Amino acid sequence: MFQQFGKWGFIAPRDIGLFLRSARTDTTLADLRTTVGQQAAFDTVYASGDPWASSDPRYFYQRRKYEVLAGLVPDRRFSRALDLGCGHGNLARKLAAKADSVLGVDIAGVAMEQAAITHADVPNLRFEQGDALDLPARYDGQFDLITIADMIYYLPPPIEDAWLKDLATSVARLLSPGGILLLANHYVYARDKDSRMSRRIHDAFSWSPSLRVVSQHRRPFYLVSVLAG
Ligand SMILES: C[S@@+](CC[C@H](N)C(=O)[O-])C[C@H]1O[C@@H](n2cnc3c(N)ncnc32)[C@H](O)[C@@H]1O
Repeated sequence: MFQQFGKWGFIAPRDIGLFLRSARTDTTLADLRTTVGQQAAFDTVYASGDPWASSDPRYFYQRRKYEVLAGLVPDRRFSRALDLGCGHGNLARKLAAKADSVLGVDIAGVAMEQAAITHADVPNLRFEQGDALDLPARYDGQFDLITIADMIYYLPPPIEDAWLKDLATSVARLLSPGGILLLANHYVYARDKDSRMSRRIHDAFSWSPSLRVVSQHRRPFYLVSVLAG
């Protein structure tokens, strides 16, 4: 039994379990980050399984979300794609049908090991441990497609607007000329705390002189911006 949200998509009652698991993970992470630090905190939650239920076949929502995000990528062939903060690599896997090569990068080395095993059957997809805030200079200008789904609000606080604008500039630097950046963040309604944060993220990236807004989309329960470098 699914509930339909207009023409946008569906959520099944059992997907509530996914939101509960995500909320539990976020509480655990908030504690861990102050005690063991950013990288070890994410490694720890991945070591105990699938922290945001992104690969759990019982949940329809996440599967559908990766399909929708991949569907919002402009319809052209890409050369090199990057999924930043890729977690278990489910979106990166979708990109592999659209690009000659795809690199998934995440701060959690544990997640990268798990993703490499899960997606070993996809020859043009590979994973590397890396920090979005400290990427190697060899990435600059290398990607004609970048996706960032639900990662930015996990970066160390405080996440101020000026800082987000600098982040947008450094992400834009990774794009080759005319490359596409797809940004997706949780969005429920305009006034709750998480949606306000998502809106600030998208506004900062849209503001960036290095990026041009191609399109924006609202879906239950996320916001997507497609930008061009
Ligand atoms: C909610 S998960 C989203 C994963 C994936 N994008 C998806 O949609 O399934 C957030 C991810 O951001 C990653 N992350 C957090 N801080 C990061 C950083 N500084 N650099 C790279 N990845 C980071 C976490 O390890 C985690 O995998």
